This record gives sequence, C-alpha cells and structure tokens, in this order.
Amino acid sequence: MNEKLADYRLCLGENEYLPLIVGGMGVDISTAELALEIARLGGVGHISDAMSPFLSDRKFGTHFQADKGKKFKIYRDELVKPEVKWGYEDVYRASLNHVRDTMDHKRGTGGVFINVMEKLNMGNPRETLKARLDGAMDGGIDGITLSAGLHKSTLPLITEHSRFRDVKIGIIVSSARALKVFLATSSRVNRLPDYVVVEGPLAGGHLGFGKDWANFNLRTLTEDVLQLLKEEELSIPVIPAGGVFTGTDAVDYLRMGASAVQVATRFTIARECGLPENVQQTYILSKEEDVEVNLSSPTGYPMRMLKSSPSLVSNIRPNCESLGYILDAKGQCAYIDAWHAAPVGDDGKKLPVTDKMCICTHFMNYDCYTCGHYVYRLKDTTVKMENGEYFLPRAEHIFNDYMTSVEHKILLPEVDRETDPASPDVSVSRKTVAAR
Ligand SMILES: Cc1cc2nc3c(=O)[nH]c(=O)nc-3n(C[C@H](O)[C@H](O)[C@H](O)COP(=O)(O)O)c2cc1C
Repeated sequence: MNEKLADYRLCLGENEYLPLIVGGMGVDISTAELALEIARLGGVGHISDAMSPFLSDRKFGTHFQADKGKKFKIYRDELVKPEVKWGYEDVYRASLNHVRDTMDHKRGTGGVFINVMEKLNMGNPRETLKARLDGAMDGGIDGITLSAGLHKSTLPLITEHSRFRDVKIGIIVSSARALKVFLATSSRVNRLPDYVVVEGPLAGGHLGFGKDWANFNLRTLTEDVLQLLKEEELSIPVIPAGGVFTGTDAVDYLRMGASAVQVATRFTIARECGLPENVQQTYILSKEEDVEVNLSSPTGYPMRMLKSSPSLVSNIRPNCESLGYILDAKGQCAYIDAWHAAPVGDDGKKLPVTDKMCICTHFMNYDCYTCGHYVYRLKDTTVKMENGEYFLPRAEHIFNDYMTSVEHKILLPEVDRETDPASPDVSVSRKTVAAR
C-alpha cells in the first residue's frame, strides 16, 4: 500500500536506474540540459537526434544546412527532388557534435539515451540512419531508443559497430504485433532489445496508430506486450508511455509487471525544456477541447497537438534544399504537394495550407505545439504567479514529484524570487492537489 515510484528500480543489464524515463521530444524540446538533469537525478533522459544538422549549426556554429541549401538550390521549384538528400558525412558529424557535447557534461548515475525516428528519411533513409546511429554510439550515448517505424532493417546497419552489443538498444512499439516484427529482425542479428517502450494513444508527438487511435488503451497494450514476452520466454523490461501523469499512475504499471514508465508532457513546462516560455505558458493554459489529433504531419502518422499551433495556419514555402528531413527516398514530401496545390487569395498570396504542415520549418521555430493528451492538466501541477503567468518548475521538482507521489497527489513547486521578481514576498506554501 502507498508504494512510491522511488521504491522500484529499472535494471538494464548492469545498470540500475530510477524507473522514470523522460522520452525524446524533437526537435530539441528534450534538450541536452533536460536529459542531463534527469540522468543526474538517477533516471533516464533522452535527447533527440531529429534534425541534428540544424542543432549542430545552432549550437556549434557549423553550416550544414546553409551548405546543403547552396548545393541544391537549383531544385527549388521541383515537386519531386530525388537529388536533394543528406549525405553520411554531414549527418554523422552533426550527430557526433550533438551527442559528444551532451555526454561530456554527464554527471550522476542515470542514463542519457537518444531517440532515433525511422521516419526521418532525409532523402536518403538507410545511409543517414546509419550515420545517426554511428554518430550517437561514437559520441558515447548510453542508449538508443528506436521510434517512429518498425525498424526492420535498422539493426543490420550497425552490427559491425564496436558498441553494437554494449550500447543499450530499445524500441517504441504501439502493439504486440509490431514488437513481434522487431523481435524477428533482432533475432536474425542475435541482438535482442534491452527494453521495449509501449506507447499508447494518449502520448505526445506522432502516434503509432491509425485514425482509430481512440479505440486503444495503454493498459491493454501493455498487457499484450507482457503476454507476448512471456510466451516467447523473453525477459525484456517493458516501459509503458502515454498519459502517465502522476507517480501513482506509474506505480500502477509497475505493479502489473512493467519495469519503468516513459513520460514527457509533464516535463514540457520544465525550465530545462527547449520550448520557448510563451509556448510553455500556452501549454499550461490549454483546455481539453484545445487538443486534437490530426493528420497534418507529412510523415503520414497522426499527431497530437494544440489547435492553436501556428503550423496549422501557415503557408510557408518548403525549404527542402536546406532542410529536407522528411523527403523520402524518391525525393517526395506530402507538404510540397499540399503547398503547390494551395489556392492563392485575392491579394495574389498563397492561402494557408490546411491539410499538411511543413514539419522542418515549424519544428525549427517551435511552432508545432505537439503535446500529450493530458496537457490541459499541467495547470494543476504548478502555481500562478502575481504577474498572472504560471511558474515553470525545475525538472528536479517534477522528477521528485513522480518519485514520491501517492494517491495521485501532485506536489506543487515553490515559487522563487529568481523566477518571480515582481512578487519578492510571495510565499506559496507546499501543498498538494488531487489530480483529476
Ligand atoms: C512535445 C513532445 C514531443 C515529442 N516528440 C517525440 C519525438 O520526437 N520522438 C518520439 O519518439 N516521441 C516523441 N514524443 C513522445 C514522448 O517521447 C513520450 O513517449 C510520450 O509523450 C509520453 O507520454 P506523455 O507525454 O503523456 O507523458 C513527444 C512528446 C511530446 C510531449
């Protein structure tokens, strides 16, 4: 009775972690700072390798995107761009820069893992995926979480790497069937996954379901995966994700046999998170009716986001020559077609493209407000300051709340002077609220 998440441990091989994983949130929403803080606290934090050339340019002064833009500018007006692609060398160096710099700053007993989405084709799927994985392993990453795809051919790309057996490798699935497919490939290279994240329909980002996502629930999916592993006589840690909002939610899953949980939405308002502060305030102010799952992502996967996302009312010109992270092997992206087909208004300007969004540009600008279903409960996890804004807690506070929560209670943070200089005497006493 009244067990807490801190009473459990996640064991991955020789490593023992507190059983809370903060999932990857691209592009640089789950920053190195956030992942490092979670690792310092003893859990597992993720960075994301989505658009690592963009990240490397921003953080380390490289010019990967500008150089690519110059090289391919002659294809600007083409609808199909098979020539426009990222190459191994640039992607490898960008990934290495990002991961090595992060790992150089790692402290504590936790882990820093990287989220690697298969759907990020970069015009050159196999070569760039290999470059991303090689860069991450050479940069010293502790673990790789494969996502956004079945990853049928991913492991064979890295069997020769010296870290193939030492780096932790996990996969995100949304069904036992998808796991079965991955297990078949992984047994062919004699390398089983070290952990399996089961992501349900309430998660943020892209969903691994079709339009019928609402017919599924995380509890049943987790039971299915636990059952499959039992039948296969495999002892692989199972990690549910999607809508685990309190430490008590997490303990419920550990009681049924899960080894940890993966969360994200609660951390979108952490100070260490990459979202701009005004977007964090928008998340906190959101109501349930402000959230939708739509098909605007050109990846083809449904995605959950706030209806107020600027990406949904934009007619930004595709910039695949510099960016082109979603271009498939044939040089196509659904947004290019949608943009060219968009009607022109009386003033001669393109009207907003309503059915698809330009993921590359909008994620770069933090203009796609993707979030988990329970984003509207964030206001119950913090306090309003005298200037009318909500207080942004530190990741440590949110992490500790998950660890110590009982009966779905959420510990509110203490407002400090640094964040709320307008009200130096404000003293918000520690209190708990029952989650809805
Ligand atoms: C803002 C945001 C961005 C996300 N981006 C990614 C991503 O790039 N790749 C991925 O595999 N999952 C992504 N996710 C999913 C999370 O990693 C996580 O599994 C899920 O959101 C957990 O559910 P919760 O948000 O309800 O806690 C994202 C989630 C959020 C909230």
